[in-house]
Amino acid sequence: MPLCPICSSAVWTVFPCGSTTAFFGVMMIFAFIRAKIILRKFFYRSEPKIPALNFRGRCAIVLLVNISDSFDGPVCTIGEVRKLTEPCSIVIFGASGDLTARKLIPALYHLCKEKQMPPAFRVIGFARRDKTDESWRSELRAALDQFSRTKPVDEKVWQEFSANLFYCTGDLTDAAAYQKLEQKLNSFGNAPLRKNLLFYLATQPSQFGQVIEQLHNAKLLHRDSGEHGWQRLVVEKPFGHDLASAHALNAELTRFAHEQQVCRIDHYLGKETVQNILMFRFSNSIFERLWNRESIDHIQITVSEKIGVGERGGYYEEAGAIRDMVQNHMLQILALVGMEPPVSLEAESVRDEKVKLLKSIRQLSPDEVAKQVVRGQYFAGSIDGQPRPGYRQEPKVKPDSNVETYVALKLFIDNWRWSGVPFYLRTGKNLPMSASEVRIQFRPTPNVLFAAQCGSHLDSNALTLRLQPNEGISLRFNGKVPGMSLGVRPVRMHFSYDSEFGAYTPEAYERLLLEAIAGDATLFIRRDEVETAWQIVDSIRKGWENKSLTNREFYAAGTWGPIAADDLLAQSGHVWHEPQVIK
Ligand code: BG6
Repeated sequence: MPLCPICSSAVWTVFPCGSTTAFFGVMMIFAFIRAKIILRKFFYRSEPKIPALNFRGRCAIVLLVNISDSFDGPVCTIGEVRKLTEPCSIVIFGASGDLTARKLIPALYHLCKEKQMPPAFRVIGFARRDKTDESWRSELRAALDQFSRTKPVDEKVWQEFSANLFYCTGDLTDAAAYQKLEQKLNSFGNAPLRKNLLFYLATQPSQFGQVIEQLHNAKLLHRDSGEHGWQRLVVEKPFGHDLASAHALNAELTRFAHEQQVCRIDHYLGKETVQNILMFRFSNSIFERLWNRESIDHIQITVSEKIGVGERGGYYEEAGAIRDMVQNHMLQILALVGMEPPVSLEAESVRDEKVKLLKSIRQLSPDEVAKQVVRGQYFAGSIDGQPRPGYRQEPKVKPDSNVETYVALKLFIDNWRWSGVPFYLRTGKNLPMSASEVRIQFRPTPNVLFAAQCGSHLDSNALTLRLQPNEGISLRFNGKVPGMSLGVRPVRMHFSYDSEFGAYTPEAYERLLLEAIAGDATLFIRRDEVETAWQIVDSIRKGWENKSLTNREFYAAGTWGPIAADDLLAQSGHVWHEPQVIK
């Protein structure tokens, strides 16, 4: 325990200090006072009288907190030695779609800008529309001006990057088009650029099987590496629409490739803050020992979105919030928050633990679904003063649609660590704000001392991992309100990515493309993860069969979801905590 430099007794006060200079300044003042006291004691043999610093006969503790300087601790860089030295070609199937212009090309441009790309690479867009290399490049340049996360576009980097962009016109079903693709790859005159191939399937999932078979027939895709170089397949959700279809899709994906060659993207895993969940848990000792049923009362995972379904009505009618958000993003976050420490940082070790966690989620019978899962659908309302139509009035939505735009779930994880701890998950469209966060709600203190006096007014501690926006972590605890009365209220300690590391926030796709090129599977979803997640979702959907939404399951656009979702938590004496706006 620190000793007060004035009276040598143990001390407990927070003394905020704005800068290093101020910090040392304050230290000097205390050293000076201490020196004076020692001299005084020596010469006068009397005790010092410094009433302002006395607190009930004891000296207040002085803890110097340097709040504005960033901490320059050592940085331990993991996985520095990547296999990025290998030249490769990236082939994007369905290259004329939105994803290429909005996400993939901006991500590759930034990787190039940050010198993360292999020394030699090519990007080939493959699609039906007739284009030349030049026309594709100028289209992409215009799109980059719009979608690049850094602006303006760096002309020098663009020139260097765009010289590697090529276009191949072809129909996905036409074997001749794959021959043309092969010729293009050969024309690069560099063996690794012909052999090391990343195939990005930005097409309908129903076309995956066809493309993979054609690639195999054209000898562009091989199971074994070695003399054939390496080939990988990158695919995005939806990975099927239920367990059976996911199973069939996975069988197609691995018909001519090993599971290890398949990179299933969940863009949430590319987010810095989502990756930080594991780092936060397993590189700090103080939180992990509280991370269990002994200390945690319940956990809330919220992914709220201000946007409505808009133009995606056709897709949403098929998917609904449970398939669109829960089966993938939300269960992935849950797995990272709840999993056991992996035996190593190897991709398979991490993925093994995620699967174990997902398998430990208690399956719900239809009766339990009725009690533990709430659906919701928005009706007309407004957000920020702007009117929003109801879901049933959105384009391509049936006027009597029963599809959910909101889901709230209460899940239990039947393992030693989490037994009895509810995990509440909720996600919805047209909610008052866009925010994703994980709130770890700790158990209340015993009902004595302050708790006995304040009852339910005494807040329980909470730790919030703010995934987006205002990326950071907040710890909520109680503190004394300064003054003569004995007031206690929650206060917060914030860590913000922006203030600590600056505003560098790479797009999820940058990280994910880099990992796919490097062949590190940690951030991709394994087959058994997808299938286990579908088992959970299928059992919920079974509980909804032939059941229409009730009045308590509708919510006005711009509100925090249906009343039934509040009831869900109220059953256990809990309430939803709305994400906070951190300024
Ligand atoms: C997508 C869903 O996977 O994730 C969308 O299909 C959703 O419906 C989006 O809006 C949310 O992603 P983010 O990164 O904006 O939170």
